[in-house]
Amino acid sequence: MRKKIVAGNWKMNNNLTETRTLLSELKTKLGTTPQAKVIVAPTFTNLQSAIEELSSSEIIVAAQNMHQAKNGAYTGEISANMLKSIGIETVILGHSERRAYFGETDELLAEKVNAALEHQMTIIFCFGEELKDRKNSNHFAVVAGQLTKGLFHIKDADWDNIVLAYEPVWAIGTGETASPEQAQEMHEFIRETIADTYGQAIADKVSILYGGSVKPGNAEEIFAKPDVDGGLIGGASLDAESFTTITNAI
Ligand code: 13P
Repeated sequence: MRKKIVAGNWKMNNNLTETRTLLSELKTKLGTTPQAKVIVAPTFTNLQSAIEELSSSEIIVAAQNMHQAKNGAYTGEISANMLKSIGIETVILGHSERRAYFGETDELLAEKVNAALEHQMTIIFCFGEELKDRKNSNHFAVVAGQLTKGLFHIKDADWDNIVLAYEPVWAIGTGETASPEQAQEMHEFIRETIADTYGQAIADKVSILYGGSVKPGNAEEIFAKPDVDGGLIGGASLDAESFTTITNAI
């Protein structure tokens, strides 16, 4: 059985007070036996408080990004070692906003993946096509390219530390969700692509999350698809009620 996961990517939202309030609401609403493995990714400055706030909870705290170098003259950056030292074991890499606004390339992401794996971190690896790619029927090739260049250098054993998040760029924050059929079609393709390179056993084991305008009203039908193992949620993860409803939709 693959792990079912619902992760909230808070992006650049919530100051310290707001972070504490949302986490406290989430703990209450999700209860002690959430339906899925639950992950939240607050901003860097609030990671340590989140760890403290959630010390008695099953909810996992993830970082939204990290630098690939061990340490050094990289003003404003955060290393894997720094994250680990405050108890962060999970990091989101390759989010389309990092790719689009901060110039993160597949090659850079391959380096970040290596740095995270060297520190035994779990990686939520994001990828997905833009609208123009889908319009040109190029979406499968784009996704295969992102996976091959950013991730497919890892060893078989490293897959234990990988969660994939397919997030079509055209569906992020737009209110336009991929249909459950579109999500399933791509997730199936992703699993086949992994199987081609690493074999069916590894492909069957990896959790593939869908992200892009997942809301309480559409989560259930998307999560019902056989190759969709959960979601990476943006906007709707900022509201405890919505995020809980989405988690329970698993
Ligand atoms: P939305 O759920 O706001 O569309 O964002 C998805 C996302 O980017 C999660 O990483």
